[in-house]
Amino acid sequence: MANILEFIDSNKERYIEELKGFLGYPSISNNPANKKDVEECAMYLKQHLEKIGMENAKVYPTDGHPVVYADWLHAGNDKPTALVYGHYDVQPVDPIDLWTSPPFKAEVRNGSIYARGSADDKGQVMVHLKALEAHLKNNKSLPVNLKIIIEGEEEIGSMHLDDFIAEHKDLLKADVVIISDTAMYDKGYPAIGYALRGLCYMQVELTGPNRDLHSGQFGGAVENPINALAKMITRLKDDKGRILIDGFYDNVLPLSEEERTEFRKLPFDDNKYMESLKVDELFGEEGYSTLERIWARPTLDCNGIWGGFTGEGAKTVLPSKAYAKISMRLVPNQEPEKIEKLFTAYIKKIAPKSVKVSVKGLHHGKPAITPIDSKWVKAAFEAMKQAFGKEPVFIREGGSIPIVVTFQEILKAPAVLLGFGLPDENAHSPDENMNLDNFYKGIKTSSIFYNELANLTK
Ligand code: BES
Ligand code: MN
Ligand code: MN
Repeated sequence: MANILEFIDSNKERYIEELKGFLGYPSISNNPANKKDVEECAMYLKQHLEKIGMENAKVYPTDGHPVVYADWLHAGNDKPTALVYGHYDVQPVDPIDLWTSPPFKAEVRNGSIYARGSADDKGQVMVHLKALEAHLKNNKSLPVNLKIIIEGEEEIGSMHLDDFIAEHKDLLKADVVIISDTAMYDKGYPAIGYALRGLCYMQVELTGPNRDLHSGQFGGAVENPINALAKMITRLKDDKGRILIDGFYDNVLPLSEEERTEFRKLPFDDNKYMESLKVDELFGEEGYSTLERIWARPTLDCNGIWGGFTGEGAKTVLPSKAYAKISMRLVPNQEPEKIEKLFTAYIKKIAPKSVKVSVKGLHHGKPAITPIDSKWVKAAFEAMKQAFGKEPVFIREGGSIPIVVTFQEILKAPAVLLGFGLPDENAHSPDENMNLDNFYKGIKTSSIFYNELANLTK
C-alpha cells in the first residue's frame, strides 16, 4: 500500500490537469443542445478507463444519455466484486453572471478547483479513476474484482438507468456498490452516509380565462390564475412547517431515539448556519433540529413559479395561465408514486372552481437507507480513518440519488456512500468547487478501501 500512497502524492499535479480536462466537457444532461457534449464526455471516460488499465470499457447507448462501463475481474473468485457508481452529467450553469471563472474552464483558487461538476460529481468520479490507476500502474492488478458504471442522467432522475440495470444484471452483478456522490459532514469531518432522501417533482398548471385579458376591462370579475396559485401554494404547508397534503406522512419512518442522540453529538451550530446563509431565522418543521429536518424529515418546496408578464416595466394584464414547479423530498418509507397521487388529489381539492388545473409528475427518486453495521461499512470506515487521520462520522444525506434503491432491489447489493464533497461547495450553484485536499484524500481512501475489501468474504 505504501507504494500506492507515495504514487498518489507524487502525481497530484497531473491529477489536476486531468480533472481539468474532464471538467471541460459541458455535459449538461437536461439541455438537448448539449447532447453532443454529453456523448463526447462519455467517450472521454471510456478512453480514460482504457488508459488507466481497466478492461471491457464501453459506452452503452440508452434511449437517453449513454452509460459508461468498464471492469477488471482478475482478483479471483474468492474475492468480492465491488461496483463503483458515479455520474458524468452536470446541472445547468445559470445564472452564468455569478461565476467568478467560466464554469467549463476549471480554475484552482485557494486550494479548491472551481467548475461545474467539480464536486457533483466529476471530481468524485476522478477520485476513483485515479485510485484504480494507482493500483493498476503500481501493482499491475486490483485487490478486488471491480466494475465501474458512470451514468449521464443522474441530474435528471436517471430515467433510463433502471432499465439498463435490469437488462444488464449479470454484467453489473456485485457484492457491494460504492458511491462517491455525497458530501462529508464538514471540513475535517470525513463521513459515511447511510440514507438519502427521495424526491417527487411535480408541475402544476392553472388556466383561468381562455386568453390574457386587459386587467382594467376584466380585473375584479375573473379569477387571476396567479393569485389562485399563490393561495394554493400557501395551503401546502402550515406555519409550523407541516405539510398539509392528506396522507403525506403515512409511511414516514420515524427517527429513532438512538439516531437523534447520534445527530446531537455532531457539532452543528444553528447560528453559524444562519450566518453562512445570511438569514436571520431558520424555518422548518417544529419539533426537529436542523440536521433532523434536512436528513430525516420530508419537505416540500416551490422551485419556481411563473406566468403573466415578467418583463421590464409594467403591463396591465390578467394572465390566462400560471405555473409552479414543486418538489417534495421524501424519506424512507415514502413512495414517490404514492406521493404523486396524494399531491395531485390535494391540488385538485384545493383549486377553486374558477380555474382549470393540470398536474404532472416530472421525476421521481426513491429514498434509501442502508445498515451501518455491515462489513462493507466497517471496511470503508477503516479506509477513511487511515486516509483522513480521523474516524468518519455517520450521517444521512438530504439530497437524492435515485438509483441507490435500484441497486439494492435488482442487484441485491448494499450501497456504501463515501462522499468527498463539502456541504458548502456550491453544488448546483454558481462557483461550484471541490477542495483539493479532500480530492487527494479521497483517492487515498478509495485505494485503501479496495484493499480492505479484498480481506472480506463475498
Ligand atoms: N450528488 C447529488 C445528491 C446529493 C447531494 C446527495 C448532496 C447528498 C448530498 C445528486 O447529483 C443530485 O443532485 N441529485 C438530485 C436528484 C435528482 C433526481 C435530480 C437532487 O438531490 O436534487
Ligand atoms: Mn451528484
Ligand atoms: Mn447533483
